[in-house]
Amino acid sequence: MPGTVAGGDLSGSRVPILRHLDMIDASPAVELPVVLREATSRMTLPVRAAVAGTGSYLPKKVLTNNDLQRRVDTNDQWIVSRTGIHERRVAADDETTGSMATMAARRACENAKVDPAQIELIIVATVSPDYPFPATACLVQHAIGARRAACFDLEAACSGFIYATAVAQGMIASGAVRTALVIGAETMTRFVDFSDRCSCILFGDGAGAVVFQAATDGSGVLHTNLGADGQGSNLMEIPGGGSRSPATADTVVGRQHFIHIEGKKVFKFATQVFIDLLREAMRACELTADSVDLIIPHQVNLRIIEAAIKRVPLPMEKVYLNIGNYGNTSAASVPIALDEARRDGRLKPGDTAILVGFGAGLTWGSTVLKI
Ligand SMILES: CC(C)(COP(=O)(O)OP(=O)(O)OC[C@H]1O[C@@H](n2cnc3c(N)ncnc32)[C@H](O)[C@@H]1OP(=O)(O)O)[C@@H](O)C(=O)NCCC(=O)NCCS
Repeated sequence: MPGTVAGGDLSGSRVPILRHLDMIDASPAVELPVVLREATSRMTLPVRAAVAGTGSYLPKKVLTNNDLQRRVDTNDQWIVSRTGIHERRVAADDETTGSMATMAARRACENAKVDPAQIELIIVATVSPDYPFPATACLVQHAIGARRAACFDLEAACSGFIYATAVAQGMIASGAVRTALVIGAETMTRFVDFSDRCSCILFGDGAGAVVFQAATDGSGVLHTNLGADGQGSNLMEIPGGGSRSPATADTVVGRQHFIHIEGKKVFKFATQVFIDLLREAMRACELTADSVDLIIPHQVNLRIIEAAIKRVPLPMEKVYLNIGNYGNTSAASVPIALDEARRDGRLKPGDTAILVGFGAGLTWGSTVLKI
């Protein structure tokens, strides 16, 4: 397991300092001695990327397991028992990753009460961008009027939102930007081979967005852990359409522009890396099963999530699940769940959540977030 690469952690002197200042804030009537007042004014709390607002967008069209049964040799009972998925959303013909990302971004800005003109950085995590270039983030910037923002897309597959959050945290902590918009958005169904029953049942479309702002009140990204193993790059891929195998009539006939996955191998990788990420995050932030309020995993497969949670061990009641409704929306799955969890009241100010992602690359990552 790789080390911490961004965000810092709660070790060392930070926890006592935070608690000490909280006590001081809570007791304004107590006059501090001059020496202590000077000392506290010199203490600098870490600047962190804190959640100012969230938003999400799911296309209206629902594709149920029974709908899929009419296209490939499968059935609802098999899909539910092997994956936990009942249905997924499919983008309308006029919807794209960029248009869904824009909807989620607008909702996140409204929720944060942030004028898009304040945003200094937009990252869209996606494996299904509108174009190879320009970046989908630039399309979102134009659509929402975030004219001051630097923009780029980030490709780390299903870990994309976790990676993008680490970048935003690093830029906010360094003082380079104060307000960042991080989006996970995918139109996976445009890359799914609807003749392959092993993969077409898994994926869905959607977008989730978070406005992060600099905070020094103890909230925000407490810890980040990212990793990758390119040895497993062939376990999940879209083999055609890149510089190695540009689009030709043959690549189209050979179905090279669709998602290919080695389901069984990915299953094993995902379960183990999920366990490792949770244990590492809890150790680094000195969290226990009691002090973690919510786990937001990449919504990959209910069996993977249950197997990992059981082995950590943690109670399943602390896990946010929406895989039944949306399937695997790749980089969008964690921010969609984060937005829903805030709106459902599953995540409240002061709560601590662990966000976990893993996917093609292979890539993986976790974020410990204080709301
Ligand atoms: C894909 C996945 C659901 C398959 O579940 P599984 O329990 O591993 O099933 P298997 O691949 O062992 O297949 C078992 C049997 O079911 C069949 N099967 C596969 N998909 C099926 C479907 N949709 N309906 C009915 N049967 C199916 C297989 O052909 C196989 O039949 P066989 O025994 O006659 O060869 C599971 O491996 C998974 O979720 N993997 C990770 C998915 C992934 O890569 N996600 C993206 C990563 S972020």
